[in-house]
Amino acid sequence: MKTDLPQSFRRLEYRPPVYTFDQVELDIALNPARTIVKSRIEVLPGKSFEAGAPLVLVGHELEFVSLRINGEAHRHFELTPDLLTIHSLPNAGKDQFILEIICICVPEKNTSLMGLYVSNGNFFTQCEAEGFRKITYFLDRPDVMARYRVTLRALEAECPVLLSNGNLLNTEKLPNGWHSATWEDPFPKPSYLFALVAGKLECIEETITTSSGARKLLQIWVEPHDLQKTRHAMDSLIASIHWDEKRFGLELDLERFMIVAVGDFNMGAMENKGLNIFNTKFVLAQAETATDADFANIESVVAHEYFHNWTGNRVTCQDWFQLSLKEGLTVFRDQEFSADQMGSESGRAVKRIEDVRLLRQLQFPEDAGPMAHPIRPDEYQEINNFYTVTVYEKGSEVVRMYQTLLGKDGFRKGMDLYFKRHDGQAVTCDDFLMAMADANGKDLTQFKHWYSQAGTPRVKVQEHYDAAKKQYLITLSQTCLPSPSQPEKKPFHIPLKMRLITKSNDQVEQLLELTQASQTWSFEEINERPVLSINRNFSAPINLDFEQSEADLLTLFSSDDDPFNRWEAGQKLAMQMILNNRLPDEQLIQAYRELLMDPDLDPAFKELALTLPAESYLYEQCASVDPQQIFTARRAFRREVAKQLQLEWAALYQQMQTPGPFKSDAISAGKRGLKNLALSMLLDANATVWAPLAANQFQTADNMTDRYAALAALVIHGAKEAKQCLIDFYNHFAKDALVIDKWFGLQSSRPPVDGLGSTLSEVMRLREHPAFKLNNPNRVRSVIHSFCLNNPASFHQADGSGYEFWADSVLALDPVNPQIAARLARALDRWRLFAQPYQDKMKDALERVAACSTLSSDVREVVSKALGNEDFRNLGVQ
Ligand code: BES
Ligand code: ZN
Repeated sequence: MKTDLPQSFRRLEYRPPVYTFDQVELDIALNPARTIVKSRIEVLPGKSFEAGAPLVLVGHELEFVSLRINGEAHRHFELTPDLLTIHSLPNAGKDQFILEIICICVPEKNTSLMGLYVSNGNFFTQCEAEGFRKITYFLDRPDVMARYRVTLRALEAECPVLLSNGNLLNTEKLPNGWHSATWEDPFPKPSYLFALVAGKLECIEETITTSSGARKLLQIWVEPHDLQKTRHAMDSLIASIHWDEKRFGLELDLERFMIVAVGDFNMGAMENKGLNIFNTKFVLAQAETATDADFANIESVVAHEYFHNWTGNRVTCQDWFQLSLKEGLTVFRDQEFSADQMGSESGRAVKRIEDVRLLRQLQFPEDAGPMAHPIRPDEYQEINNFYTVTVYEKGSEVVRMYQTLLGKDGFRKGMDLYFKRHDGQAVTCDDFLMAMADANGKDLTQFKHWYSQAGTPRVKVQEHYDAAKKQYLITLSQTCLPSPSQPEKKPFHIPLKMRLITKSNDQVEQLLELTQASQTWSFEEINERPVLSINRNFSAPINLDFEQSEADLLTLFSSDDDPFNRWEAGQKLAMQMILNNRLPDEQLIQAYRELLMDPDLDPAFKELALTLPAESYLYEQCASVDPQQIFTARRAFRREVAKQLQLEWAALYQQMQTPGPFKSDAISAGKRGLKNLALSMLLDANATVWAPLAANQFQTADNMTDRYAALAALVIHGAKEAKQCLIDFYNHFAKDALVIDKWFGLQSSRPPVDGLGSTLSEVMRLREHPAFKLNNPNRVRSVIHSFCLNNPASFHQADGSGYEFWADSVLALDPVNPQIAARLARALDRWRLFAQPYQDKMKDALERVAACSTLSSDVREVVSKALGNEDFRNLGVQ
């Protein structure tokens, strides 16, 4: 049994590599039970080299076979479970030498899905962040960039297709039914971008011409029965390539670019150079099996991974603390791309609102809890735990703030300078900031605090209007609560877009740069008391503390020219009423009615304006959370909106029909979204009366968006029709894993319904279903994560049964797949925020998991941080 304290890695302990690699040749003979990996590496002194230093390679769960240096067997080495330390190097390591290693790994036994593994009989790799060490002994760190030539060998009957990064050099027939393919990637890359795929796959392909006139081959590889579901991913890839040329002047740099889909995958997708590997969920789509949300997600994930080719691959991270350098920037780029694909200004606003909802629902809670960290963390135990909404979504907000401060053209200048300075290098977040600062002659010193301080800043707004002086004053004061090991915070540089809304409409939008703890601005010649619209388009990722009257909020909700803030005012009104246990009043209902019936507004915007704040965001507004009380208040509020506007919902349901053949464009999708919200509201108002309408939609729909929405409305409102529709749905789609994931996920995320059994008892039944598999991440997420992370009112039961289920599930999953287990483990992060008896029951469950002596480092870090630091608010720097 291991009793060592968990190992921590610290950002400030970074040292450049002692040795580095130039050319790497890999020869991999694929066999599920015993894959032989031969490497031939040109080794050179690195930046921290000292003569005589040993070469220390990492390896994990490998069988070592042999080691040669400059062609000779070499015996001066030590081998521990995770390190291969090589001594007595030629000329004390001062000259380049050739290192050859042979080792063996076992893909069919690999359930962690890191390194080389088998999925449905085919071979795949996942190397980010530290998976390459499960393939061979290596300098598995992002600042060692090498050129790779890879030969793959396999039985041709088992693996007709052999893919790796870069360009195909040649293929060969070998004795005994084997064959080989050799690939060369001309660009130096870190090991985390290595990939191979082998097996029975087929592709669709297209040839395109890029801005310089070069011809490029694009391929999407899938299992043969999925070929007809690849068109949308291909279209998304082509659109991404054109967008990056147009917006950032960045061109595809390889002769071919491949995407491969795999059904067993820990994450969404991975940007391996020239050979992106995707979860099937983010590639395969057809109207009959994928929803509008699926189509939109595929477009943005394809774009995201493609955009990494420049932001991540050509310029990569010095170390994993810099992860937001590539992820925050690339999320920002994919958000901008998706916004541009919406085709209208109001469409852009819809995308922005969706992104901010996600940030508030997931990132704000993370930033206030025990796992809070700056977008550039200072310490981690397990890097896999730091692919967080903070690094990604807050990271993207930080990149967006540069664009807000510097303008779109200034941001482009900064990007150009970044590539000019750093192409082919492994760099830091500071390098990015300096490129932005230098290209624009702007001092961004204070802006650095966004990289080093955790927590969501709170900005208090005080306004004063002096009618006699015609003067309007705003005072903005910022604070930020302590975070783990950060008791005090320095002021952030906060860009706030604002506009004074006046009857004469004579004020323009301005940018206020809040840099001090408190600052006052005055506005002259203001003839009447204005209504303040601030943090427009969510220009900064903060909480606003602004006691605006309900009358002012209603004004903004009905007429702010910034669509984001229009939505925001509605959210704030609803939130305040729900938290005060109030139902919507006549005025708000009337404002909703007018908005719904406004012919100039986008259906997608209307849908968002009538969607209430998520429970997890409401929790963050409370000093002590009673989850059942919040659920009940929110449900009552929604039911009142449903009932008071029943006529409007019924009318919208008809008006938003999209007759004729199915179209997947944003306008049609927006109509379906609003129509299906109307359907759900009708069932909320009166399930018995309206359920037949939903059942009819379920049976007659020609697309998954409508079919699934109808089924969800029936299930969520406990309609008697739900049972048979669920059976029909399963039988009809039994062979389509992604659709069956939806079937599981819908039942696991059903909130409590009066008169129906608990969702937990359903989930326990689903876990015994023959189609449930603990080793398939998508299936586990659809059953277990959906329940524990996406269904708060069913999960947080006063008897603690949800938490018991959580602990059992974490403990069962951890030995199979620590990354998926650690994600689930985060469900109890905010336990200290809850009222009794929830809080004590959550703590008991956490302690039960923590007591397991064989936990992975992934789960160990999450539960020990949740339980530890009794109250970090009172702790100094450790
Ligand atoms: N580089 C990541 C994939 C990754 C994450 C690999 C963590 C290993 C560990 C990839 O670019 C990514 O960010 N994927 C996201 C989807 C994206 C659209 C935000 C994912 O997989 O969730
Ligand atoms: Zn990414």
